[in-house]
Parts: sequence; structure tokens; C-alpha cells
Amino acid sequence: MELAILAKCLLLGLAILWIQIHGNKGCFETERLALLDFKEFVGSNGLDVDYLLSSWVDNSMSDCCKWERVMCNSTTGHVTELSLNNTRQYDIESISFYDDENIWFIKFSMFQQLKELKSLNLSYNRIGGFIDDTNFETLSELKKLEVLDLSANYFNNSILSPLSNLTSLKTLILSINIMEGSFPIQDLVKLKNLTVLSLRGNNLNGTPPLQKLSNLKNLKSLDVSGNGFTSTLPFQDFKSNFSKVSKLKYLDLSDNYFNNGILSFSSIFPSVETLDLSDNNLEGPLSYKDLVKLKNLTVLNIWGNNLNGTLPLQSFKRLEELDISYNRFNSSILLSLDALPSFKVLKFCCNDVEGSFPIQELSKLKNLESLDVSWNGFNGTLPFQGLCGLKGLQELDLRYNEFGVVFLNALTI
Ligand SMILES: *[C@@H]1O[C@H](CO)[C@@H](O)[C@H](O)[C@H]1NC(C)=O
Ligand SMILES: *[C@@H]1O[C@H](CO)[C@@H](O)[C@H](O)[C@H]1NC(C)=O
Ligand SMILES: *[C@@H]1O[C@H](CO)[C@@H](O)[C@H](O)[C@H]1NC(C)=O
Ligand SMILES: *[C@@H]1O[C@H](CO)[C@@H](O)[C@H](O)[C@H]1NC(C)=O
Ligand SMILES: *[C@@H]1O[C@H](CO)[C@@H](O)[C@H](O)[C@H]1NC(C)=O
Ligand SMILES: *[C@@H]1O[C@H](CO)[C@@H](O)[C@H](O)[C@H]1NC(C)=O
Ligand SMILES: *[C@@H]1O[C@H](CO)[C@@H](O)[C@H](O)[C@H]1NC(C)=O
Ligand SMILES: *[C@@H]1O[C@H](CO)[C@@H](O)[C@H](O)[C@H]1NC(C)=O
Ligand SMILES: *[C@@H]1O[C@H](CO)[C@@H](O)[C@H](O)[C@H]1NC(C)=O
Ligand SMILES: *[C@@H]1O[C@H](CO)[C@@H](O)[C@H](O)[C@H]1NC(C)=O
Ligand SMILES: *[C@@H]1O[C@H](CO)[C@@H](O)[C@H](O)[C@H]1NC(C)=O
Repeated sequence: MELAILAKCLLLGLAILWIQIHGNKGCFETERLALLDFKEFVGSNGLDVDYLLSSWVDNSMSDCCKWERVMCNSTTGHVTELSLNNTRQYDIESISFYDDENIWFIKFSMFQQLKELKSLNLSYNRIGGFIDDTNFETLSELKKLEVLDLSANYFNNSILSPLSNLTSLKTLILSINIMEGSFPIQDLVKLKNLTVLSLRGNNLNGTPPLQKLSNLKNLKSLDVSGNGFTSTLPFQDFKSNFSKVSKLKYLDLSDNYFNNGILSFSSIFPSVETLDLSDNNLEGPLSYKDLVKLKNLTVLNIWGNNLNGTLPLQSFKRLEELDISYNRFNSSILLSLDALPSFKVLKFCCNDVEGSFPIQELSKLKNLESLDVSWNGFNGTLPFQGLCGLKGLQELDLRYNEFGVVFLNALTI
């Protein structure tokens, strides 16, 4: 008898426990409805949403935290991450992605109920704008939003002003859109907590206001590649007093029209570790005065310019990767590499080289992993013996030089 009561109590207890563990876990109704709003929107654009968002079912028992593309905080049950990237599930590698003329205009207020949202990825959706983007209030209700990825859409500059109210943002990706005109500093500079900013692949031009950007004290990564930016010499921006940004580690300025004047950024961002200046209009020798400020440089990419002369390589004690292909350097640039203990990757194809291969210097780079000196005018015998000592070497490209013929039996590897 007592045993039966005990068993009943135990069962009841277990049931209560089960309810506590699972019952509260369902997502919030308001948030579930907000997500279903989005699903309905996608459907209203003629897409098969029951296939594209098949787990998003309109059933009050369905826990939206378990839906695809949705992440919740397991303690609070609030939606914190939405990966609505490529909702149409196109093959984004294929050209047809860019052919689709079905451009979306979405209501940002759809996300208004997701007050705990931290990360929203809306990339690759061909969104042309927010139809309620004059409603600044709506945006600023997302007080927790830290990551916003809007890349590969059709946003023009009208996206910028509303974004400036999202002051909690840490990562803002606006790459591959159709913004144009000058660098939108007035709006972006309000986002004080920004650590990652990408404006890659738009149609922006003029000179980026680097000095004003230095007001973004937390910036760690800045990508302005693939625009039409220019620099003037001397760099106008630097006449007045400026402050340094000591956190910027990654700076991608590639694929623009920068000339040598751009290097004066080094005074503002001396902490840069990865610098990409490839595919610009740099020419002649680069100024040591600026470059040597980048004491922590680890990766330097300057392929596709018109540079000659030398680089202060021995100042970059941490340099690991150097890409100086498609310039007009001669082999003297390689002579100081042996002063760099951690050097790993050298890309030196397609330069203005004649004469012998600096095997003595290169054979001292004990950590070298990859070496490309193809399409130059190196002559003499193939430098296999010297290279054999480089135990870490994984990639070697010596093609298209003027090395003499070597008989294979001369190679005792
Ligand atoms: C979930 O929310 C709680 C309360 O706001 C917070 O303390 C915790 O860090 C959050 N967990 C995650 C993984 O973000
Ligand atoms: C969305 O992005 C995440 C990475 O953030 C990726 O794992 C996922 O495959 C993407 N989804 C689609 C449909 O492309
Ligand atoms: C957003 O999704 C894209 C496409 O899948 C992915 O490449 C990107 O890394 C995601 N963004 C973030 C911030 O995770
Ligand atoms: C920018 O896009 C919005 C739609 O979001 C449109 O109303 C506006 O005319 C566009 N502006 C320009 C300059 O193209
Ligand atoms: C949003 O920003 C605009 C101008 O950038 C400002 O006028 C407005 O007061 C802001 N709204 C909120 C709610 O902060
Ligand atoms: C910016 O970051 C700081 C430190 O993490 C935080 O205290 C502050 O609330 C953030 N500002 C906004 C507007 O989210
Ligand atoms: C630059 O600003 C700093 C403080 O921000 C100040 O101490 C310094 O005197 C200023 N230098 C010049 C040349 O104005
Ligand atoms: C270089 O890195 C070290 C730590 O690795 C750091 O203490 C130093 O401040 C950095 N230098 C610059 C100029 O940022
Ligand atoms: C380097 O290039 C500049 C112009 O681009 C040219 O005037 C100069 O003579 C070149 N120097 C050498 C050593 O080739
Ligand atoms: C290689 O370039 C350096 C620096 O511009 C120059 O001093 C040297 O004369 C050049 N050597 C040859 C063989 O052209
Ligand atoms: C290599 O090229 C240099 C410069 O063109 C030339 O002076 C030298 O004779 C060449 N050496 C050989 C072995 O062909």
C-alpha cells in the first residue's frame, strides 16, 4: 500500500520535473509568430516555403527554438540567432543567382519582436531595401543585436542612416551591395562598439576618412576592398591631430585605386597584422618611413601593383607571408628575408628578375612552407640542393624561368 503511494508520488514528481525541463522550453509565442511572418513573406514572393523552411510549421505546439536556421538561448528560451542567409537556397556560386530579378523589399519590423536577437544573417537574399526603413524606432528596439550580415543584397545608401541606430552592433557586413559615393562615415561612426566592418564590393569612391574612422576605437577588422577608393598624396586627412587605433589587426584595402599616399594610414593604425594592398595603383619604391610603423605585420599582400625598389623587410620581425607577385621588384628584395625567423610563404611570381637565384638566402628560411618564383628570369642551374634542406616546404613553383637543364640523376634527394 505505502509502496504504491510512494510510487505515485515519484511518478508525479517525475512528471513535474519533466514539465519543468521541457514544458518551459518552447519558444515564446510572439517570437514564433514573428518567424512565421517571415515565412509568409517568403511565400508571398512565390517560393516553396514548405520546402525552404520545412521545419517552420504553424502549430502552437511546435518549438521554434528547434527550427532550422533558429538558435535560442537555452536558459531564457529567447531567439538569439537567425541564419536567414540564402533563404532561397540558390547555388550562390552559379551565375543564375545574380540573374534572379525577384528582389525583395522586406519589413524590418518583422524582427521587432525578437528583442533578444544577437545575430542576424540576411546575406544572399537579393533584398533591395527595408520598406519601413524610415521607421528608425523599429530598428533601435533590437538593443542586443551584435552581428548583422547584409552581404550580397541590393542595398543602396539608404540602408545606412537607419543602421546607425543599431548602436550595439559589433559586426556589420555590407559587402557586395550597391552603395555608392563617398565612405559613409557619418552613419558608421555612431556605431562605437563596432569591431568588424566590411564594405567590400560596393561602388564607393573618394578617399576613405581614415582619421575619422579612428573614432571607432574597438575596430579590429576593416575591409574596404573592391571599391573605387583613391588616395591623394600627401594624404589630406592627416594634416590635423589624429589619434591612433590600437586594435586594428586586419586591413583590406585591395582592389581600389590607392596610390602610395595610402600608406600614411600606418600612423593611425600601427597595430595592423594583416595588410592587403593588392591590385591598386602603388608604384615606384614604397616609403620606409610609413611602413616601418607596422611593427607587428604578419601578412603583407601587395601583388598587382607597379612597385620596385626594396621593402624594409628586416623591420617586420613577425612576417610570415609575403605576396609581391606582379610587380617590378628584382631579386635583391629577397636578400633580407633571412632575417625573419617565422617566415613561411613567399609569392614572387611575375616580377622583373634577371640573373641567378638567391638560393643561399632562401635556404636559410627554415620554416618556409610555400615558395612561388615562377614567371621570372632566374637562370643558372635549378637550385634543388639548397631547397632540399627546407624540411617544411610543401609547395614549390619554379616554372617559367631560365634555369638550365638538369639531369634527373643529378638529383639525389
Ligand atoms: C543566455 O541568457 C542568460 C541570461 O540572459 C545569459 O546569462 C547567458 O549568458 C546566455 N547564454 C548564452 C549562451 O548566450
Ligand atoms: C548560412 O550560413 C551558415 C554560416 O554562417 C552556413 O553554415 C549555412 O550553410 C548557410 N546556409 C545557406 C542556406 O547557405
Ligand atoms: C552569413 O551567411 C553567409 C552565407 O552563408 C556566410 O558566408 C557568412 O559567414 C555568414 N555571416 C556571419 C556573420 O556568420
Ligand atoms: C535606394 O533604395 C530605395 C529602396 O530601398 C529606393 O527607394 C531609393 O530610390 C534608392 N535610392 C537610390 C539613390 O537609388
Ligand atoms: C535614430 O536615429 C535618428 C537619426 O540618426 C534619430 O533622429 C532618432 O532619434 C534615432 N532613434 C532612436 C530611437 O534612437
Ligand atoms: C558597447 O560595449 C560595452 C562593453 O562591452 C557595453 O557595456 C555597452 O553596453 C555596449 N553599447 C551598446 C550600445 O550596446
Ligand atoms: C593631439 O591631441 C593630443 C590629445 O588628444 C594632445 O595631447 C596633443 O597635444 C595634440 N597635438 C597637437 C599637435 O595638436
Ligand atoms: C604588437 O603586439 C604586441 C603583443 O603581441 C603588443 O603588445 C604591441 O602593443 C603590438 N604593437 C602595436 C604597435 O600594436
Ligand atoms: C622604379 O619605378 C619608378 C616609376 O614607377 C621609376 O621612375 C624608377 O626609375 C624605378 N626604379 C628602378 C630602380 O627601377
Ligand atoms: C635591383 O633593385 C635595387 C633596388 O631598386 C637596385 O638598387 C639594383 O640596382 C637592382 N639590381 C638590378 C640587377 O637591377
Ligand atoms: C644569367 O643572367 C644574367 C643577367 O641577364 C647574365 O649576366 C648571366 O650570364 C646569366 N647566367 C647564365 C648562367 O646564363
